[in-house]
Parts: sequence; C-alpha cells; structure tokens
Amino acid sequence: MLPLIPLGLVLAVLDVVCAIHVPIHVTRKPGAASPRKRARTLEGRASVAVNDVRDVEYTGNITLGGTAKTVLLDTGSADLWVVGSVPGTKDLGKSATISYAIGSASGDINAASFQFDNFTVDDQAYILVQDASNIGLNDGIQGLMGLGPNSNSVVASKFKNLTGASPLSRIFSQNKTSSNYISLLLTRENNTGDAFTSGQLTISSPVPGYENITSQPKLSVDKVKLSADQHFQVLTDSNGIIGPDGNALDVSSIVPGVHDGKLVAVFDSGFSLPQVPRKVSDAIYGRVQGAKYDTDNEWWTIPCDQYLNISFKFGGVTYPIHPLDLNSDSSDLRAGATNCVGPFQPIGSGAFSIIGDYDMILGMGFLRNTYSLFDFGDFVSTSSNDRSDPFVQLLPITDPSTAKADFVRVRLGGTDTTSSSSKTLLPASQQSHSPLAPGERSAQLKERILSHWYLILIGAIAIVALALGCGVWCCCCRGRRRGGARAVGFRGVSVLPGARGAYKPLHDPATGAMHMAPMGVSGRV
Ligand SMILES: *[C@@H]1O[C@H](CO)[C@@H](O)[C@H](O)[C@H]1NC(C)=O
Ligand SMILES: *[C@@H]1O[C@H](CO)[C@@H](O)[C@H](O)[C@H]1NC(C)=O
Ligand SMILES: *[C@@H]1O[C@H](CO)[C@@H](O)[C@H](O)[C@H]1NC(C)=O
Ligand SMILES: *[C@@H]1O[C@H](CO)[C@@H](O)[C@H](O)[C@H]1NC(C)=O
Ligand SMILES: *[C@@H]1O[C@H](CO)[C@@H](O)[C@H](O)[C@H]1NC(C)=O
Ligand SMILES: *[C@@H]1O[C@H](CO)[C@@H](O)[C@H](O)[C@H]1NC(C)=O
Ligand SMILES: *[C@@H]1O[C@H](CO)[C@@H](O)[C@H](O)[C@H]1NC(C)=O
Repeated sequence: MLPLIPLGLVLAVLDVVCAIHVPIHVTRKPGAASPRKRARTLEGRASVAVNDVRDVEYTGNITLGGTAKTVLLDTGSADLWVVGSVPGTKDLGKSATISYAIGSASGDINAASFQFDNFTVDDQAYILVQDASNIGLNDGIQGLMGLGPNSNSVVASKFKNLTGASPLSRIFSQNKTSSNYISLLLTRENNTGDAFTSGQLTISSPVPGYENITSQPKLSVDKVKLSADQHFQVLTDSNGIIGPDGNALDVSSIVPGVHDGKLVAVFDSGFSLPQVPRKVSDAIYGRVQGAKYDTDNEWWTIPCDQYLNISFKFGGVTYPIHPLDLNSDSSDLRAGATNCVGPFQPIGSGAFSIIGDYDMILGMGFLRNTYSLFDFGDFVSTSSNDRSDPFVQLLPITDPSTAKADFVRVRLGGTDTTSSSSKTLLPASQQSHSPLAPGERSAQLKERILSHWYLILIGAIAIVALALGCGVWCCCCRGRRRGGARAVGFRGVSVLPGARGAYKPLHDPATGAMHMAPMGVSGRV
C-alpha cells in the first residue's frame, strides 16, 4: 500500500517528466529569414550545418526517403519525427505520441532510408506526424530530431529489438570502433565577434580548430533513477554560478543527494531559454534598474542597453556568458515591447522536475557560449566497444572582454556607457523578487514527495517492523513478567507518535515531506 501511492504518482507524472524537449516561447509568426552562413568545408570529415533561427531555434537538414527535411536539433529528447510526405516509407504498425512542454507530436511509426552527416541508415524508425500545429514550429521547419540518450526514446520503447532505436543509436552501432559522441557549435545572431561563421554538428569527430575540446574536463553524466527521464545532465561546481556583481550565488539543489551548493544542469539544445531556479533568475535580473517581472510570460524584462556579466563553473573551468545571451532582443521574444527579455528564466512550474532529477535546463542561451561534446558511452548498448560512462565536455568560447565590446557595438552604438549610474546594479538589499508562478508551490511539494518516496517507504517499513517487534515483545513480556509489562508497554507506545509523524506524508504531504527531509540526508542512495 505504502509504496503504491508514490509509485502511482511517479507513473502519472511521467508524461510531464518527458517534457523537456521543447523550444518554448517560440512564436508562430514567420520572421525575417536569418542570414544563412555557408558551412566551412571540413577536410576528410563531414558535418551538418546548423542554422540559427533568430537565436530561438537551431535546425539542420536530414534526408528521409530521399527528400531533404529541415528539423530542429534537440539534445533534450531522443525521437525523430517529421511532417509531410516521405517517399517509400514503411508503416511499422504502431503509433506514438511525444509530449513536450508545449504541444505534442503524434502519428504512426514508420521506417525509411535516412541520411545525416554522411551516415546512412536503411530503415530508420521515426514518427510520421500529420498535424504539428500545436507545437508552433517556425515556417520551413518540418520536424524534430532528438539527439539525447536512447533510453528516453518513446519510439524505441515500443519495440523489443533495435527496430525503434533512435537515429544516433543506429549510427553509432554501425561502427564499433569510432567514438560515440556528437559535438555542437552554435552561432549567435548579430554577433560578429565569433571566431566561426557557421554552426555545426559533428558525429564522432571534433570541429576542426576546436580539437582541444577533448582535453577539457570530462563531466560525468548524472544517471537518474527513472531511465525515461535521462538527459545529458551534469553537476555544476560548488556555488558554480557567478552573479552579476562578481559574487557566487548561494544556491542549493532539489535533487536528493546533491549538496554543497552544486546544481544538476541538463543541456538541452531544444530549449530556447535557459531554465534556472527562481532564486538564480532573480539574482541575475532583480538588481537591474528598471527591471520588471512579466507574470504573463514568466520572465524578467530589462532595458536593452543593460550590460550583465555572469558565468558558470563546471569541472573547475569558468564559462562566461555573453551579455547578448543575458539580455535578448530577439523579435520572437520581445515582439515590439519597450524592454528586452531576460532569457535566464525561472524554471517555475512548467519545466520543473517533479521527480527531482535536475535543477535547471541550460538551453540555447547557455550553449552558444560553449563548444559542447556529448559522449554517449554505454548509453549506446549495441556498441560493444564503448562500455565507459557517458560524459560531457565543454570548451568556453565566449571571451568576456570581446563579448563586452560586442555588446557595446550592438546595443550601445559603440559608446561604452556600461558604468553610468543608471546601469549600475542596485544594492543587494534592494533586489526585487519575482512571484511564484501558478502551480509552482504544488509542483515543489510533489517533487519533495516523489523524490523521497523510497525513503518514506523505508521509514514506514522500519516503523511497521518496529511496531510489530514491540507488539511481539510486549506480549512475551506480559506473559512472562507481569510487573515489567507496564513500563515496557509505555516505552513501546512512546515510539509511536514518531511513527505516526512518519506516516503523515501520505495523508498530509506538506508536513510529511518535511518530516522525511532529514532522513534524506542520512539515507542517501
Ligand atoms: C561524405 O560523403 C561524400 C559523398 O558520398 C563523400 O564524397 C565523402 O568522402 C564523405 N565524407 C566522409 C568523411 O565520409
Ligand atoms: C536545408 O534544406 C533547405 C530546404 O529544405 C535548404 O534551403 C537549405 O539550403 C539546406 N541547408 C543546408 C545547409 O544544406
Ligand atoms: C524486430 O521485431 C519486429 C517485431 O516487433 C520484427 O518484425 C523485426 O523483424 C525485428 N527486427 C530485427 C532486426 O530483429
Ligand atoms: C569506423 O571508425 C573508425 C574510427 O573513426 C574509422 O577509422 C573507420 O574507417 C570507420 N569504419 C567504417 C566502416 O566507416
Ligand atoms: C583551444 O584552442 C583554441 C584555438 O586554438 C584556443 O583559442 C583556446 O585557448 C584553447 N582552449 C583551451 C582550453 O586549451
Ligand atoms: C565579469 O565578471 C568576472 C567576475 O565574475 C570578472 O573576472 C570579469 O573581469 C568580468 N568581465 C568583464 C568584461 O567585466
Ligand atoms: C538582431 O538585430 C536586429 C536589429 O537590431 C533585431 O531586430 C533582432 O531582433 C536581433 N536579433 C536577435 C536574435 O537579437
């Protein structure tokens, strides 16, 4: 009985949990086409050109059934789906639905010949979607390609063999000697300071000129309890977010077992706006003069000429964030409003991890600042040669002073006014705080229960065992020495109020979660 309640809840929230793949706040309106930059020709290697759609979507081309399709490139999910027709496609007789934070894609699972970055798979499974209008893709985008761990694939879960495996799993399993990794280099619109002109995605080889990514620290991928919620996620360093005043932000993780001011960060190229704990978003924007929190969009708005400087730390390396990524003028977000948008958005209730697997989702606004390598290691079960743990390597590509000069040129018309009195941060005591989103408190509550359910279970079993043990002991004692029965009985009873407290979570989640929290610390898994 006891475990069933939380387990049932776990199952019930699975849909929500799988919802991390999404470009959010992407409008449907077709904006001006972004300048398409030519891919650099790579000697002896192939790569996929990655196109930047106004800094809120990154796309690449695949070939399916012989026709080219432009798809979103999404490290936060693992399935391929397209709309439109696919010549020579074969219906595999099953259907699937993938729920995203916004909308869902559903249709029949098909297989067709597939080409990507010089790799060919003869019978790649994908979902042929009839109507994707609820996802709000920008014009010219015909689907989505998930680049995340296969265990998260909805299509793969429908088959007992390799038939449904994700595109990358199929590609990696073709060559058992090559490394199972992809790398991603993203461009930023309006930023001529970048040393590269084209975004690129590579498979099993680094982008030329960026080979030293392979000597960056290997950040272990945090393996989660529920494989359907597995993403490329790693721990930040302790207090690994440096705020705009140069001081480390004081943060704590919601993930059981993660302490010392570290946070669990998911890297998701399908999420436009980085989703950070509310406290972090408030610390970045709440001291900016003229900052206002927009409760409709659930983001901060700030003057477009406000320079900000923050950085993240992973594996002892500092990753500065470009000021243009901290203050967005993208027409998809701003839509004519006076002020610009603070893209580091409170994770609120929408993308919040209800089963407590991660603290934040570092989307495009973060990933533009790193050249990123995602190594699948033993996530690819069919690859006999790689039994190592999956990891992520990040090469910092934003130089803070070049980035500041970019900002001055793009936003300030070339005159550095970043230290004028109207642009200095307010004292910490005058920081504004954003209000909780609707549903945020109850989401936090569910998270505390779900991420501690096994401790609640262990506690409850211990208490039942204790109660039974006491009962048996009392009976025995009563039978043997009448005189001592009272005292023993009393002692037995005195244990029970504590026991009832521990049962409470199931009837009264709020207090229960709090009762169990301390056990979380000692009963670590
Ligand atoms: C990629 O494919 C093209 C055409 O099939 C071929 O000429 C080229 O050598 C291939 N490159 C690699 C790295 O395999
Ligand atoms: C991708 O395909 C679109 C048409 O679907 C084409 O306009 C574009 O040039 C292609 N991009 C690359 C890099 O090949
Ligand atoms: C995988 O299983 C399906 C039935 O679900 C079967 O039709 C197919 O031939 C199998 N494929 C392989 C490669 O074993
Ligand atoms: C497999 O990968 C290795 C290492 O990248 C490469 O040398 C070899 O040519 C590849 N084999 C095939 C069949 O593509
Ligand atoms: C990696 O190589 C690039 C280009 O040569 C260089 O600018 C950068 O400093 C190097 N980074 C590291 C961490 O070695
Ligand atoms: C940004 O802040 C860091 C401290 O967090 C500082 O070392 C760096 O000089 C700042 N960059 C600029 C361009 O002011
Ligand atoms: C690039 O600059 C133009 C002109 O200022 C602006 O309209 C557009 O929104 C900018 N793009 C981004 C992604 O900020």
